[in-house]
Amino acid sequence: MKIIPNDDGLGARIKEIDLSQTLTEDQVGEVRMALSKHGVICFPDQKIDAADLKAFSGRFGTLEINVTGNYQEPGHPEVMILSNKVVDGKPLGLSDAGQDWHTDMSYSKEMAFANVLYGIEIPRVNGTPLGCTEFGNMRAAYLDLPDDLKQKLDGRTATHDFNKFWENMRREKGSSRPPLTPEQKAKKPPVSQPIFLTHPITGDKVLYANPGYTVQIDGMDKTESDEILSFLFRHQLQPKYCYKHLWSENDVLMWDNFGTIHNAVADYGPDTPRLIKRCQVMADKVLAKVA
Ligand code: OGA
Ligand code: MN
Repeated sequence: MKIIPNDDGLGARIKEIDLSQTLTEDQVGEVRMALSKHGVICFPDQKIDAADLKAFSGRFGTLEINVTGNYQEPGHPEVMILSNKVVDGKPLGLSDAGQDWHTDMSYSKEMAFANVLYGIEIPRVNGTPLGCTEFGNMRAAYLDLPDDLKQKLDGRTATHDFNKFWENMRREKGSSRPPLTPEQKAKKPPVSQPIFLTHPITGDKVLYANPGYTVQIDGMDKTESDEILSFLFRHQLQPKYCYKHLWSENDVLMWDNFGTIHNAVADYGPDTPRLIKRCQVMADKVLAKVA
């Protein structure tokens, strides 16, 4: 395989690899290292089906079966469908996944290592792709923090809550999602995560707080916590840390949830269809490697 880093400090393309074929252990190791180092990997021009996507993704860890139980690929519950398409009056997939800055599953005690998306239909206007996915480099964001803040937050945790993102979508993005029921909330209780995490593969420290889910620095006065979090959220979204992936059909895009945060840009409507299949790789396997 040929690894070609992007110019702007985040992301790489990997060519000369066919993801429909079973990778060797060495190839899996090489991809895992490239992903951890570059944060986001695009494998262009892949011809794969849902079973191939699942087989490739599953080499990196256990695959999540999304709790909503909706929008699963028939016969492959680990493959989730993201789409704004409506077929026979029914939504084909989840239409508003990830439409604000977040880290996948930071609200969950079991963290996610990598998300793997396969672009099947990409919205375009006059040839320009819409619905891009943006990423922020949380290693660089950590390194640039003022020393006194690094010291102050070292070893501390923050609470992450699934409901924060959900309510934000309802309140600010005009989403028609109903409020979470008490039963749904009970299934996703808030959890504490380190504010600075040591990346299990690279050993680098990264900023592991995100605007989507992080609600409070544990054991800190609410006013001070709000001030520091809003500073961190502004800091981590500076354009110098960000990279925007413009999709092409048949891209497989894989990102590292430890070292990056991301946002799905909602700049397309129902007339421009988007169809993506997705597998979320849990961190069990990479964490077991370092334990
Ligand atoms: C996700 C997500 C981004 C996108 O699947 O978790 O954030 O561009 N998707 O679809
Ligand atoms: Mn996401």
